[in-house]
Amino acid sequence: MTPATLAEEAGALAGFLRPATRIACLTGAGMSTESGIPDYRSPQGLYRTLSSEEVFDIRRFRADPSHFYRVIGPLYTSIEEALPNAGHLALAELAGRCGKNVKIATQNIDGLHQKAGRADVYEVHGTMRTLTCQSCGGQVGSSALRDRLQAGELLRHHCGGVLKPDITFYGEMLPEGPLACARQAMAEADLVLVLGTSLLVYPAAALPSLRTRGCPLVIINREATVMDEQASLVIHGAIGNVLPQSVAKL
Ligand code: OAD
Repeated sequence: MTPATLAEEAGALAGFLRPATRIACLTGAGMSTESGIPDYRSPQGLYRTLSSEEVFDIRRFRADPSHFYRVIGPLYTSIEEALPNAGHLALAELAGRCGKNVKIATQNIDGLHQKAGRADVYEVHGTMRTLTCQSCGGQVGSSALRDRLQAGELLRHHCGGVLKPDITFYGEMLPEGPLACARQAMAEADLVLVLGTSLLVYPAAALPSLRTRGCPLVIINREATVMDEQASLVIHGAIGNVLPQSVAKL
């Protein structure tokens, strides 16, 4: 079903949210565009000017880490300055005022769901909050290195080894703990929400397929996705418009 107006969309979404008790979400970069962080594959996305191989490929990083740091500087700055938007806050409200059990598997590295609070968050593509030394394995927090990260400097540990942010690069495994929690949340949910992701990157894109038979799937994304046909409700619009309106009806 594809409703037409914003009010109809919000009403239809509320119809799924109201009876749900365990809501598992898969979120992607589209969740944070309204906080001023670009996504990857939209017309204004990062991959219109760069390729993922250039930025987030582990072999490329090992060959030339300074290239990665030069590129990531502006993105890190926008992440540091960003605040949760109406969509993040609506999910927090679902968990808070509405009393739902909300678990969020996010592909995002911006920490905005955590800043919004309330829901359980599983960062399946890792985090920018810590970095690991590629020589000795030592881990350091990124906040102490903030200015240098923003300036695009190649970061080294005190042992001399190159530091790599703990985000998942192409060619690396996803972090086991968050991925296991995300899988369990999908399997236990009585409603799955897919929010702002092109569903093109696996294994994260396969998470909604772990929902049980009969568990409704709702997708909110500006563009069509490969899972639209399986969904009980598809809304092709901005998360920050429809989700808060819908949560306000509960
Ligand atoms: P993409 O850029 O592939 O997809 C974001 C989707 O969100 C697009 O389909 C947009 O149309 C949609 N969108 C943007 N703003 C929106 C809004 N306000 N409301 C609704 N929809 C909106 O980003 P991801 O699917 O998150 O991985 O990308 C997956 C992974 O690819 C990322 O985690 C990253 C990247 O390479 C790694 O870096 C490992």
